[in-house]
Amino acid sequence: MPIALITGASRGLGRATARALAGRGWSLVVDARRGDDLADATRGLADVVAVPGDVTDPRHRQHIAGAAGRAGRLDLLMNNASRLGPSPQPRLRDYPLGELGRVYDTNVFAPLALIQLLAVPLTAAGGTIVTVSSDAAADAYPGWGGYGSAKAAADQLTAVVAAEEPSLRCYAFDPGDMRTDLHQQAFPGEDISDRPEPDSVVPALLRLLDERPPSGRFRASDLVIPAAAS
Ligand SMILES: NC(=O)c1ccc[n+]([C@@H]2O[C@H](COP(=O)([O-])OP(=O)(O)OC[C@H]3O[C@@H](n4cnc5c(N)ncnc54)[C@H](OP(=O)(O)O)[C@@H]3O)[C@@H](O)[C@H]2O)c1
Repeated sequence: MPIALITGASRGLGRATARALAGRGWSLVVDARRGDDLADATRGLADVVAVPGDVTDPRHRQHIAGAAGRAGRLDLLMNNASRLGPSPQPRLRDYPLGELGRVYDTNVFAPLALIQLLAVPLTAAGGTIVTVSSDAAADAYPGWGGYGSAKAAADQLTAVVAAEEPSLRCYAFDPGDMRTDLHQQAFPGEDISDRPEPDSVVPALLRLLDERPPSGRFRASDLVIPAAAS
């Protein structure tokens, strides 16, 4: 059975993806900082190792990488856990640099550290790296300079890893807006009930995993499976 490591799987897109892959019989290693939420999210799923912890903690990364690479092969590393930064998000001229460092620790350095720790089992499997990106990585929105620049850096790391490791598939995956805690944090006080649920994005991600196109940057909206003509 294929095996995946998904970071940030207690809520939102990570949780929805974990449930979909578990339903397909994948073995999973998942994390999130709050262990009770993670336990709730994975209850009833077969073959899931749930490890509470913070991806910015090197010891936690060693732990999840050890669990994910235990079979000597890893089919999927999904770097999904993310930090928005302050809410509301400040302009760059006011951005606290200490907090910017924490945004980069979660969104850039932790994903690269996991790629480094798992390069051998990923290569053994001819595996896939999914870096969950954002439109804020590609478009310049006022207030999104911290999170957006971190996502842009993660996109570029993913692209360079793809060029350096041709046996892997490396995707930056932009899910689009989703009705999640992170999105609510980005739009404090706003009604976000019109945004789609994260489950609606999962078919696009599964298409990427199933079809394995050449490495690159993909938007979920470009990957949705067209409805059959009636
Ligand atoms: N929602 C959107 O509209 C949107 C749009 C574009 C891109 N994205 C991207 O989509 C991905 C998923 O976001 P989401 O909206 O699904 O977020 P979410 O619902 O807030 O879930 C985030 C998950 O990551 C975990 N997490 C956060 N920081 C962590 C850390 N340092 N270590 C380990 N786990 C951590 C959270 O659990 P704990 O808090 O317990 O750690 C939770 O399980 C992110 O990469 C985000 O940037 C989201």
